[in-house]
Amino acid sequence: MTQLELIALAKEAAKHAYTPYSHFTVGAALLTKEGKVYLGCNIENASYSPTNCAERTAFFKAVFEGERNFEAIAIVGGLNGDFKNYSPPCGVCRQVIREFCDDDFRIILGKNDDEFIDEPLKAFLPYGFAPSNLEK
Ligand code: THU
Repeated sequence: MTQLELIALAKEAAKHAYTPYSHFTVGAALLTKEGKVYLGCNIENASYSPTNCAERTAFFKAVFEGERNFEAIAIVGGLNGDFKNYSPPCGVCRQVIREFCDDDFRIILGKNDDEFIDEPLKAFLPYGFAPSNLEK
């Protein structure tokens, strides 16, 4: 799967976003090492803080299905579905990614045009706290 194919799936996922408060729609397409894709969107809440980001929706769906080996995630986001800028993952999502992915997991940011950023998790979360930090 190419980066642009995965980004196209993230754009489809963003159509499912539930964003009555921010109107900022985010879509994520999470690719497993076996080639399966899990989609996620952001899901907001009237109480604001329970809002779930698109990246975490995708990860939690995949983990529930038993997936543990991940290759890459494509992310798009923008006001009212206009992906004119890159939408990088928030700090909480980076930490959730760290739980299940190693340094070389790829984070692909997409936007309206065919430009993208494809960088490893270690570039987004250097010195991250990982499950291995809890080992004796
Ligand atoms: N959002 C995501 O879905 N992913 C991120 O990593 C950053 C923020 C969502 C949460 C909220 O619904 C909207 O974008 C505005 O913050």
